Amino acid sequence: MPDRKKTAADPSEELTELRKQVKTLRKRAESAESAVTELRKAERQTIQQERLQALGEMSSGIVHDFNNAITPIMAASEFLIDNADTFENKEQTMALLKSIHTAANDARHMVGRVREFYRPEERAEVTEVDIDPIIKDVVMMTKPKWERIGADPGKVIKIDMDLGKPGKVWFNESYLRQVLVNIVFNAADAVDDGGTITVRSFSRDGKAVITISDTGIGMSEDVRQRCFEPFFTTKGRKGTGMGLATAYGVVRGYGGEIDIQSEVGKGTTVTIVVPEDGAKGSQS
Ligand SMILES: Nc1ncnc2c1ncn2[C@@H]1O[C@H](COP(=O)(O)OP(=O)(O)OP(=O)(O)O)[C@@H](O)[C@H]1O
Ligand SMILES: [Mg+2]
Repeated sequence: MPDRKKTAADPSEELTELRKQVKTLRKRAESAESAVTELRKAERQTIQQERLQALGEMSSGIVHDFNNAITPIMAASEFLIDNADTFENKEQTMALLKSIHTAANDARHMVGRVREFYRPEERAEVTEVDIDPIIKDVVMMTKPKWERIGADPGKVIKIDMDLGKPGKVWFNESYLRQVLVNIVFNAADAVDDGGTITVRSFSRDGKAVITISDTGIGMSEDVRQRCFEPFFTTKGRKGTGMGLATAYGVVRGYGGEIDIQSEVGKGTTVTIVVPEDGAKGSQS
């Protein structure tokens, strides 16, 4: 009999115990659910913040490159306005007009980078690009930055080209020009006290190589390591720190590599390597 009493009490105790456990589990499930909701909210906020940061970097890069493109347009048009007799020289007039046209076209392409941001599947047009003529354009377009007519001979900036006809590369022509403009501008800043900028091109192991060297101030190891960071600049208010960050993004985005070697007081060499023709498949 005492046994029967015990067994009769057990199920109700067990039931109460089970109900308690179910309640605890339900509470835990509820708090786990709200933790997941919180986590999802935090994740959405992080994505939003990252996108905002990327948008900020991209628009600063575009504003930066847009200003770069306006420089040759202003300089060449001002030259034509102030020197009307240039029109007698058809060749020089054509060269100046071509420079204005190329820079304006590049500026148009830059604005297209905004569209690429919200529609990444719509990438800028990629064509087979011949590098040497682009280098010649860049040297011409950056003239207002390095040409110093009548300057003290010690402050003259010399620019040399050593073009070795590398194979064609698949790239967006405007973007490549802009990358090189940025690097030549940096080189010109580095040789502000006079010096030489040398732009070379050649082919190595199925890749097109472009090097831009200067005999300027050079970079410390710390600066060299940070120079591709967005907004990193040692030029104070004169720099935005977006030149190399943009160049890095563009070159890497088209399957290329960009590397910098530098020594304080001796100068800097920026090397860009892009696979030659035939590598189109790897970029789609
Ligand atoms: N050729 C160079 N010689 C020495 N330092 C350089 C050279 N190129 C880049 N740097 C260093 O790298 C930094 C970042 O370069 P980046 O082009 O990104 O920005 P910036 O030139 O400072 O500004 P911005 O391009 O907006 O005018 C420069 O501030 C400078 O310290
Ligand atoms: Mg720069």
